[in-house]
Amino acid sequence: MTTLKHIENQRQELQVKLDDLKTQGERNVMGQYSTPIALANDILTHAKNIMPKSGKIRFLDPAFGTGSFFSALNNIFPSSRIEAATGYEIDEHYGKPASQLWSKTKLNIQLKDFTKQTPLLEDEKYNLIICNPPYVRHHHLKGQKERLQAKALASANMNLSALSGLYCYFLALSHTWMKKNGIAGWLIPSEFMDVNYGRAVKNYLLNEVTLLQVHRFDPNDAQFEDALVSSAVVWFKNKKPSKNHKVKFTFGGTIDNPMHEKEVSSHVLATENKWTRFPLSDERQVNGEPKLSDFFSVKRGIATGDNKFFVLTREEIESRSLPIGQFRPILPSPRYLKITEVKADENGFPDIENQLFVLDCKLPFDEVKRLHPELYSYLEEGIQSGVSERYLCKHRKIWYAQEKRLESQFYCTYIGRSDKEGKKPFRFVLNRSNAIVANSYLILYPKPELEKEIYKAPELNERLLEALNSITGKAMLDEGRVYGGGMHKMEPKELANVPATEIQKLFDGGSGQLPTGVCVA
Ligand SMILES: C[S@@+](CC[C@H](N)C(=O)[O-])C[C@H]1O[C@@H](n2cnc3c(N)ncnc32)[C@H](O)[C@@H]1O
Repeated sequence: MTTLKHIENQRQELQVKLDDLKTQGERNVMGQYSTPIALANDILTHAKNIMPKSGKIRFLDPAFGTGSFFSALNNIFPSSRIEAATGYEIDEHYGKPASQLWSKTKLNIQLKDFTKQTPLLEDEKYNLIICNPPYVRHHHLKGQKERLQAKALASANMNLSALSGLYCYFLALSHTWMKKNGIAGWLIPSEFMDVNYGRAVKNYLLNEVTLLQVHRFDPNDAQFEDALVSSAVVWFKNKKPSKNHKVKFTFGGTIDNPMHEKEVSSHVLATENKWTRFPLSDERQVNGEPKLSDFFSVKRGIATGDNKFFVLTREEIESRSLPIGQFRPILPSPRYLKITEVKADENGFPDIENQLFVLDCKLPFDEVKRLHPELYSYLEEGIQSGVSERYLCKHRKIWYAQEKRLESQFYCTYIGRSDKEGKKPFRFVLNRSNAIVANSYLILYPKPELEKEIYKAPELNERLLEALNSITGKAMLDEGRVYGGGMHKMEPKELANVPATEIQKLFDGGSGQLPTGVCVA
């Protein structure tokens, strides 16, 4: 007799073999990333803990793959409890070998597009849905969005925006497949917890079902591959929530044995835009605490469209006799800028070893030909190598002119990694040169009030830098987002929201030297 362990070993070998026959691009378009069996077992163990202790299990996995959850189901539940098990898989490449592998079990595998199916009878529904749905970004859903949006609304009252990924539709469409009081566990990107398109998913979780737990993995935990570290496991019951319902948010460790946990009321969740602040942070206090946006306007650095072509070293400019006047200085990417204060040389260029310049020419092409023939031939090379056809360049009036962005004295590194010691993933830089920055930085422009104060007391800049860099990593991370591999990212709006008590202190008369009166909200 073949044991489950034996089949599971075969399944893992099969998974590797089938993945290897596909390119990374093909797997991306279809969201084909399998769940490690240890995690699948954790998920099914948790399902068993929260399901009634007896009674039959009707199991559905709408995105089956080779069946890592089905394997775990058989591992965790006695076969006498499994009444039915169904899996949908759109891709025969995985579906056919999977159906062979599991042919001696109760599995009913359907090689079909799950989003096009509809359950017929109440009896055919399921009381346990476990799914790691395809994480397919919205731009690969062209031609399908309207159908999917209409179905999501009809099925789960989920009003999804056109920016939603396929996983949101899977979640919505599965609603009609759930028995009343059935349980669902979804392994999905935690992105929905913070971004605008996730609002519809959150409304569903708060109003249509009883949200039980949201578990996020610690990105510094090396046990998962990059694709999974920024995932969450979302648990809910198909039952309308009670009035004062509380949701368990857990982080790190395992679902059943997390490092951190906190219960958050659904009233708080209804107004909080950033669910990833839980469980590590407390509920937001509406207390008029100053924010960076009270002192600075935050903008993204410039997006050149092709740094390789547009950003040149001084030597490259000189060796090709390009006109330096058509360039502006730009700071190297944060990785190559180790200092926190950039001094200026006699030209106002950054006083650093490898000066860089970004081409920013506003002259029409024929003018360039007439005035700067060397630059003209450089641009011709850009046309030939396809730079002018790249998305950003193509959509500019003059494809080689950068967006208008003034330089500032304050920049913040935009994306970074934190480590276990809690090293700060963001850094502020005081820029005394004329250099602009690319979009691996955010730009902080002092607001007029602050500008005035700096004008009156230029040494305030250093204090401001110090205050900015003393904002704790935690305060920054509360607003930013975590991506795969422990990468942290911040949007301008998120940086603007970071508490600025350190800066406010500079004006509260604490030092006795700085002028007071900068007005904060
Ligand atoms: C993230 S994988 C998960 C596979 C498996 N359940 C696991 O956890 O290892 C998602 C699976 O959904 C399949 N899929 C993508 N679109 C689908 C659709 N419209 N209907 C059914 N399956 C789909 C993919 O081919 C892929 O095998």
